[in-house]
Amino acid sequence: MRFHVLTLFPDMIVNGMHTSITGRAIERGLIGLNTVDIRNYADNKHMRVDDYPYGGGAGMVMQAEPVYRAFEAVKEHISHPVRVVYLTPQGRVFNQEMAGELAGEEELVFLCGHYEGIDERVLEEIVTDPVSIGDYVLTGGELPAMVMMDAISRLVPGVLHNEESAVGESFQGYLLEYPQYSRPAVWREKAVPEVLLSGHHANVERWRREQSVLRTAKWRPDLLENAELTPKEREMLN
Ligand code: ADE
Repeated sequence: MRFHVLTLFPDMIVNGMHTSITGRAIERGLIGLNTVDIRNYADNKHMRVDDYPYGGGAGMVMQAEPVYRAFEAVKEHISHPVRVVYLTPQGRVFNQEMAGELAGEEELVFLCGHYEGIDERVLEEIVTDPVSIGDYVLTGGELPAMVMMDAISRLVPGVLHNEESAVGESFQGYLLEYPQYSRPAVWREKAVPEVLLSGHHANVERWRREQSVLRTAKWRPDLLENAELTPKEREMLN
């Protein structure tokens, strides 16, 4: 997987992505990261890439030409059609299913906006997937792009050490994950649930499944509609 990020703040992307698991994946060559500073494609000597909005109103708009040129520069390194994700609160809301779908691509381009947005004409030309990471407004597309790249990266084979950890977790099967515990067995008078110390594998699995179902019902009941529950589990919830 190779990510290309068109941004006014490449340092933010580089610093964030070169940390922790994504950083390790980049070093090991499992993930490629190419950041493109849109400002380098400004068409004036002041290196300005924004201007006032036609029709008036607050804020500035990123101009079409620098964004288009930055994209053209990226496209030179890609031979086939590529999906271009534009981070915007107006997009389709990102979820685990979308992460899985995008993880199947060989290359992805992320376009990060700032100010009051980007000139609509260049968006019409290059964007294939407008995506939001949730119903709130951020100052720019960099954090959303990193959120998406993080979620996608961990689905790329080899990125996680333990191949198991990408399956059977929250949102797989529309259930939240069961609670986890580690040593000590008693911490500040709070004991680890007895069953986890029993060594009885089937009982542990049963307990974890029940915890997943109960936890989802308590914190994310909206997910239960799509969850695959046994008739017995449905009954337990009623
Ligand atoms: N840009 C600003 N807010 C955003 C959001 N919630 N999702 C994606 N891009 C954004």
